Amino acid sequence: MAIMKILAYPDQFLREPVKPVDKIDDPLQEIIEDMADTMYDAPGVGLAAIQAGIDRSIIVYDAEADLEARKFEVLINPKIIEYHGVTISENEGCLSVPDFRCDVRRAERIIVEGLDRDGKHMKFEVEGTPAVILQHEIDHLNGILFIDRVSALKRQIYKRKRQKMLKSE
Ligand code: NI
Repeated sequence: MAIMKILAYPDQFLREPVKPVDKIDDPLQEIIEDMADTMYDAPGVGLAAIQAGIDRSIIVYDAEADLEARKFEVLINPKIIEYHGVTISENEGCLSVPDFRCDVRRAERIIVEGLDRDGKHMKFEVEGTPAVILQHEIDHLNGILFIDRVSALKRQIYKRKRQKMLKSE
């Protein structure tokens, strides 16, 4: 079990789109297990590799956040190919954006494509909470944070609050 350090706003590493995974190997499986450990430890419902300082397109998520069952999903090189409908994700938060929650406009239903942890191609439709988690995590892989999807005013207020937090650390 290895807990990774989670990068936090305004770390610039979180702003660069990641590279695709080109090899499904043992080191990759280890990264995936460490990411899951880190997500459950936080605790969170999803984690993108970029949040742990890894420049690769990998996400893990578990909408149930069930530490005991540990039935997390893995997606490698994920891409959203269709968006349908609109939903408001209430009180969305992010492990890389400490002490901030906000409602975010998201698609209600999406179609996602990617690889599973064995490199098998997957394409599936998902809606509700898992769809919101996937949109949030796939945003991370593109250097986007959920605060980019709220009003400029709310983002500005958070930015100031975060600067104060960092100064007092
Ligand atoms: Ni996040």
